[in-house]
Amino acid sequence: MMSKSNTALKAEIRRLAKEKNAVIMAHYYVNGEVQDIADFIGDSLALAQEAAKTDADIIVLCGVHFMGETAAILCPDKKVLVPDETATCSLAESCPADEFAAFVKAHPGHTVVSYVNTTAATKAVTDVVVTSSNARQIVEALPADTPIIFGPDQNLGNYINSLTGRNMLLWNGACHVHARFSVEKILALKSEHPAAKVLVHPECKGPVVKLADKVGSTAALLKFAIADEATEFIVATESGILHEMQKKAPQKTFIPAPPDDSTCGCNECEYMKLVTLEKLYRCLKDEQPVVTVDTEVATLAIKPIQRMLEMSARLGL
Ligand code: 13P
Repeated sequence: MMSKSNTALKAEIRRLAKEKNAVIMAHYYVNGEVQDIADFIGDSLALAQEAAKTDADIIVLCGVHFMGETAAILCPDKKVLVPDETATCSLAESCPADEFAAFVKAHPGHTVVSYVNTTAATKAVTDVVVTSSNARQIVEALPADTPIIFGPDQNLGNYINSLTGRNMLLWNGACHVHARFSVEKILALKSEHPAAKVLVHPECKGPVVKLADKVGSTAALLKFAIADEATEFIVATESGILHEMQKKAPQKTFIPAPPDDSTCGCNECEYMKLVTLEKLYRCLKDEQPVVTVDTEVATLAIKPIQRMLEMSARLGL
């Protein structure tokens, strides 16, 4: 069968979404053309918040698998679809639920704070979920004498420890994309573009975070880039965010920070890039793959996700 042109695909995707009362949500890291066709683009927190309040019958989550799982846990009466169910997340993979549960058991009396980049089974042994948009504020809102386990991202955990003065016990996980950024490559770019401001996601290693003019979630980096007076930015996060940055601030220059083993000159998450227009079309048309979460796991996992949403609302996030 001949494949449809992108224009025809986009028209069909919009037609199907309308016909089926489906909402298409996309993370800033997926391919630009998928972001462009989505009803809603956001960071991990915004995607969870939007899923929790949508009145659509179907949610199509264009991102990695844990994002679909989070939507499915929050919306048990809706059909949640993902264009590619093999789109995993290296951070989630770095924290197998059984090993994390054993770690939690070995450290009784701790409040367990987990990054949203985890599987549903890991969330099931968690007290409160956080994202890079609210981790600092949620940790600060916990009583100062509460011992905390933070997983799985060690870089984000170290960053939150440094901001809050807490001494959270950290799981040793990392995002394979963010861990690749190098101080040397960013400094070399800085010497070529001395006026450029450096935007860094907190999943990067500490020495890279120290170079930042702004550290924040994808949404926070985007907001800063639009509002700041600088016209050039070096961006140390997955390069998909450059699409929306360039759209929102077309007169500004965004330079992707290269990885340390620079083979591609950009920094891409191969799992996010599995989400294509063609797969989005097929998944809407066939209404699969459907994200399913074991009921027992979902019953436990929804509590820390809802706690995150409630605390975020209270904190005005
Ligand atoms: P945010 O969406 O919170 O910026 O985090 C990025 C990420 O890790 C997506 O997998």
